[in-house]
Amino acid sequence: MKSMGCGFGKIIFFGEHFVVHGSFAIACPLSQKTCVEIQKSDFLKIISDKDVPCDVLDLQKQLIEKLLSLLRISDNKFSISIISELISSAGMGYSASLCVATARALSDYFKLNLCDEKINELAFEGEKIFHGNPSGVDNTVSTFGKSILFKKDDFVVIQNLKIKKSLNIVVVFSGETGNTKTAVEKVNKFKELNDKSWSDLFVEECEIVTQAKMVFELGDLEKIGLLMNCNHELLQKIGVSTQKLDILVNIALQNRALGAKITGSGLGGCIIVLAKNSEQQNNICLEFKKLGYCSFTTNIEKTL
Ligand code: PMV
Repeated sequence: MKSMGCGFGKIIFFGEHFVVHGSFAIACPLSQKTCVEIQKSDFLKIISDKDVPCDVLDLQKQLIEKLLSLLRISDNKFSISIISELISSAGMGYSASLCVATARALSDYFKLNLCDEKINELAFEGEKIFHGNPSGVDNTVSTFGKSILFKKDDFVVIQNLKIKKSLNIVVVFSGETGNTKTAVEKVNKFKELNDKSWSDLFVEECEIVTQAKMVFELGDLEKIGLLMNCNHELLQKIGVSTQKLDILVNIALQNRALGAKITGSGLGGCIIVLAKNSEQQNNICLEFKKLGYCSFTTNIEKTL
């Protein structure tokens, strides 16, 4: 008998990196998921649908061992199969969705009936293996599958995002993978060396997210696009954009998108593009495909 668990992919709309240092972030689920299947075996075996490098395979093994230890389970005689619709190391929340899916599959296999809050807690512990010091935004979206406003300061604040109009998004993969841990460390270094400008940029980011929360609620798509462009500039200033990501953002804007920015940790990975309507969304997606990029459309559903 097979046991199974899934976790959602995600995009970060606003506030990546700054969220690690206490700002709010806005993140939304993707319909693309990672699923994990567990079945009895003679020894612990991990089968991945992707060609993952040895170090990632080792992290996956560490994840399972950590979750088993947190759940106080000593039986590890099972095989675990990972099937994901997400590109790994691309800012789409692959590691968080893997942590959520694994926690859910273990809950199913050992008949633990864990609630979503507990799954989220375990996934957060799992994320530490991949990212060192995660804010927790990725595993939260991946667990609950809802658009949220998220903040982690002395304590965690999670609010469901109010969205008046659904959003037509294009996700474009730069073709270059990015390492979240490296990007977060780079930002830490920037903060250490540029105390004053970091404080100014942090205040700007907080202002962007506050305004974004209001305009999502009002359904002002033009303004959301402008805020995305401002957020991309801040990410450039803290050093996590690349020439390729900037080129992709410019292509999107030349195609009259309302806004475009990095999503996730940057230094590779994906950008997100906000289109005016579904026709423009399809055209922009096609344009990127013609240029040889892996791109897909996704819609963020209204919640009001
Ligand atoms: O792993 P990614 O690329 O989805 O980025 C996670 C978002 C960061 O803000 C960069 C890190 C974090 O823990 O919030």
